[in-house]
Amino acid sequence: MCGIVGYVGKRDAAPLLLDGVQRLEYRGYDSAGLAVVADGGLVVEKVAGRIIDLQAHLGERLPQGTVGLAHTRWATHGVPNDSNAHPHIDCGGTLAIVHNGIIENANALREWLKEKGHRFRSDTDTEVLAHLIEQFLNGSLVEAVSTALGHVEGAYGIAVVSTTEPETLVAARFGSPLLVGLGDGEHFVASDAAALLEYTRDVVYLDDGEMAVVRQDGYEITDLQAQHVEKLVTTLEWDLAKIERGGHAHFMLKEIMEQPESIRNTLRGHLLEDEGTAKLSGINLDDDELLEFDRIVITACGTSWHAALIGEYMLEELARVPVEVEYASEFRYRNPIVDENTLVIAISQSGETADTLAAIREAKQRGARTLGIVNVVGSSIAREVDGGTYLHAGPEIGVASTKAFTCQVAVLALLTLRIGRLRALSVLQGREIVQALQRLPEQVAEVLSQADRVKQVAETFMRAQNALYLGRGYNFPVALEGALKLKEISYIHAEGYPAAEMKHGPIALIDDMMPVVFIAPKDAVHRKILSNIEEVKARRGRVLAVVTEGDEQITELADHVITIPESIDPLTPVLSVLPLQLFAYYTAVRRGCDVDQPRNLAKSVTVE
Ligand code: F6R
Repeated sequence: MCGIVGYVGKRDAAPLLLDGVQRLEYRGYDSAGLAVVADGGLVVEKVAGRIIDLQAHLGERLPQGTVGLAHTRWATHGVPNDSNAHPHIDCGGTLAIVHNGIIENANALREWLKEKGHRFRSDTDTEVLAHLIEQFLNGSLVEAVSTALGHVEGAYGIAVVSTTEPETLVAARFGSPLLVGLGDGEHFVASDAAALLEYTRDVVYLDDGEMAVVRQDGYEITDLQAQHVEKLVTTLEWDLAKIERGGHAHFMLKEIMEQPESIRNTLRGHLLEDEGTAKLSGINLDDDELLEFDRIVITACGTSWHAALIGEYMLEELARVPVEVEYASEFRYRNPIVDENTLVIAISQSGETADTLAAIREAKQRGARTLGIVNVVGSSIAREVDGGTYLHAGPEIGVASTKAFTCQVAVLALLTLRIGRLRALSVLQGREIVQALQRLPEQVAEVLSQADRVKQVAETFMRAQNALYLGRGYNFPVALEGALKLKEISYIHAEGYPAAEMKHGPIALIDDMMPVVFIAPKDAVHRKILSNIEEVKARRGRVLAVVTEGDEQITELADHVITIPESIDPLTPVLSVLPLQLFAYYTAVRRGCDVDQPRNLAKSVTVE
């Protein structure tokens, strides 16, 4: 988590740094700070709170200087207060560092440094790095940073400036993303390209174990032993308007409303209607290789894990391959049965989730072939897997994942087509799925056009303390996802269950105060879920149902219904989740919650 921006150039650094770090605020937002090298000295300003608080603290007194760095934090070590905010400085106040990640041997290093006479001002692991670099600083800043990093265990993305080399910024990466932005007579460093889009599109992604020495007129990438590393320059295609709110009150609403377009982008160029299959060249697997796997394991966290469950249902039903879905955090610490005949798929919007990355590394070590279904291009997971497919959903800034989820399900359908056509699906069945996928963007737009209606329903439930989400078959994972959306942004306690499980416990909770959200499209289990709704109504529960257009039976039973158009069963989740995203959004707004930056959460969880 956290966001880093650094600048070396000819312009005043502070306004640029503040602007860049504001674009990264979604990565963490409990404290913020900047350091600027000015008149041979170092000006460091930092506060607990958001960038807006830092701006208020600075007022008109922006430090003057053309080299600097800034940070927005999501606390891992030490509470969010002024002294724990980044940047951190050494005893002499000559160098400043910002850091993402966790230094695992920070305690041992701190004790050693204290013995050497260093005085600490914060509870952070990052400050240890500042003193460690100072300890080794004897001439070259780059050498001091690389020697210090040689003593560090853990994950880091760092940027360092020092008055001893006032025109240089040193950055390094191990396990936490970092890139260099190339400008004309100016260079940048950032943990996420979103910070730099206004200034440059040309970036160089650092890999683990690499350092960047960045100056106004150039940059060099080396390994930790100072050996030059040749790197590719990537030109970003993201457009600035896309990372702004585009007229919507919140990023989350913008991202919900973008789904017709994001799904269209996900599917673009992949569907082969005549053959009834999908083209997925990025997976780097030919037909023979795809037939060799006897098992698929999908690993992910949170919302991406819910998409994985839908993938399991699809792949098992249509491609007839055994699939297991594992929380990445569990997979990495178990002794999973994975070998060269297992295909391990990681699903991650950010591509930086620490547990998912670790799970992929574990799978590779055991000889498995790995694939990534990732949104952020050039992210760590995308670069470590053997192959994969990008979502092309565009940047997702709102902390609650929305458009990434529907695009993930769409990619899983593409993969099901690709594998299914080799194993179990006829060309006619394949074509039916292709056609259903082609209809999706329009159908998504149709569901989203009912936003006002969902808003009215949210109004009636906004004071609820709890909610139960129930679905069956393909829509059981949607129940989990709907409940997660509601709890994370509105702070209403919500649980998702397979509808039939209700009788095994949760039914005890139902009374006239309990909202029960049924995801009940006309699919193979429709009749079964109808009886579950009867059971809830018999106990005076308040029912909101997501149903297929024209479903009179449920419309008569439920207190509120939102309709979705007809689709094939495996694709109903892409439609049925939309009212639940909107429901969570409007409920949270009505309750006065900070929808885009809910408490305690951060967009990408780059620590365990
Ligand atoms: C929920 C949410 C999280 C993420 C999870 C995995 O709205 O956003 O549950 O889905 O942290 O993140 P990624 O997909 O980036 O690996």
